[in-house]
Amino acid sequence: MKNNRLIITSYRLPFAFETSSGSTTVKNSAGGLVTAMKSLDFSESAEKPVWVGCADFSRRTWEKYKHLVNDDFEYIPVFLERKIQQDFYNGFSNSVLWPLFHYFTTYVDYQERDFIAYQKANEAVSETVAQLLKPQDIVWVHDYHFMGLPRLIREKQPEATIGFFLHIPFPSYELIRTLPQKCKEYLLTGLLGSDLIGFHTTDYNIHFLQSVQLNLGVQHKIWKINYQNRLIQSDAFPVGINYSLYHDAYDQPDVVQEREALRNAYKGNKIIFSVDRLDYTKGVMQRLDALEAFFRQYPEWTERLTFILVVVPSRDEILKYGERKVMIEQAVGRINGKYGTLIWRPIVYRYGSVSFPQLVALYTACDVALITPIRDGMNLVAKEFVATRKDHRGVLILSEMTGAANELSTALHINPMDENEVAEKMRQALEMEPEEQARRIAIMQRRIKEYDVKKWATSFVESLLNMHTIQQIEPTP
Ligand code: F6P
Repeated sequence: MKNNRLIITSYRLPFAFETSSGSTTVKNSAGGLVTAMKSLDFSESAEKPVWVGCADFSRRTWEKYKHLVNDDFEYIPVFLERKIQQDFYNGFSNSVLWPLFHYFTTYVDYQERDFIAYQKANEAVSETVAQLLKPQDIVWVHDYHFMGLPRLIREKQPEATIGFFLHIPFPSYELIRTLPQKCKEYLLTGLLGSDLIGFHTTDYNIHFLQSVQLNLGVQHKIWKINYQNRLIQSDAFPVGINYSLYHDAYDQPDVVQEREALRNAYKGNKIIFSVDRLDYTKGVMQRLDALEAFFRQYPEWTERLTFILVVVPSRDEILKYGERKVMIEQAVGRINGKYGTLIWRPIVYRYGSVSFPQLVALYTACDVALITPIRDGMNLVAKEFVATRKDHRGVLILSEMTGAANELSTALHINPMDENEVAEKMRQALEMEPEEQARRIAIMQRRIKEYDVKKWATSFVESLLNMHTIQQIEPTP
């Protein structure tokens, strides 16, 4: 892969322009995807990797300020008409695919115009990619926004090397079945334009293969699909984190300072912590129900426990997200009113983002991390929490409905719907002996240290190149 050039496509470009008091600056994203892409070794390629994504800024802003953007990648923004962008992102991507793929069928709001916008957006990005493509390039398409893209690129460049990775669950065929036939075909044949299709877990892969078989009548054998004289591989590649970044942050001076401030502020109390994007899939309401059940069943914890709940704003133009915010705020107020005392609040709630040092301080100051999604493709918060615990303390309570539960085998697993089970596991976690905490954390750390984000990205690209080579040597009859 050293000689190849990488072309990445994702909905978001890994930076944002911020304007305040008349001056514009650039904020680089520190997300997992950027770290993963940077970890790949393309050192012998004569050209810089390229990143194609949708612009959330105007052409004018781009021309004026592109010189401020980092030069880690060559960035190519695709400018969509405003209405198309909205219907594509808020509409089909986040009001059809997102709820459906997370099993929230009643939240699906299918509108024909949104599906048309989705196709137009995929077409626009495919044209940009096809124009750039050279024979040695590797195209890596990310996520549910661009499920149509692999086929569209292949139609324009039949010999291209194309990989696709889905960052959310791929649901059971029964869910895919509910989509209009033209959508199912568009999405599935879109993915089959790839040489390699990656998912977080084997279950998601099996669901995908079943959907392909039942919808398109296409057979598969040992993770290989024979389709239109091409052989396509689909497999599980569980995404990891930058382990050392989180692990080493434990001793960073600003983290130490933030952690001490937190410990002082909650002296004498145990801390349970959670952080999520504001999303109905994350199970925040169920978590609050479980907390209420806990205080009902174990009143001896009154004035001895604080739950720090951080909710990060997300997709706020979509009604279902705004509604959720109101529901969470009402539940927090109700629980604090009912169980709090004149000198203590059970829940400390923050709606907003936290800095990296604050996040690591929260991960390392808490006694328990409580992660309860109803569905989650992977859940990197769980892995980050485990990685930060250099002190080998802390207990992870983790929903069995996350992709991460497969790997984090010594977490206390819960079903997020079962408030009594969650309350009981909270008690168990709060009373767990330090030796047992250390044993559990050490097992999970070994796993996520080895399968980190670099391993994820490297093994995906190596498998993609292998698959493409097999294709060239043994074309399927
Ligand atoms: O998990 C899927 C995902 O699209 C991530 O890639 C992304 O960080 C997250 O959801 C947030 O989504 P958005 O880009 O819509 O804010």
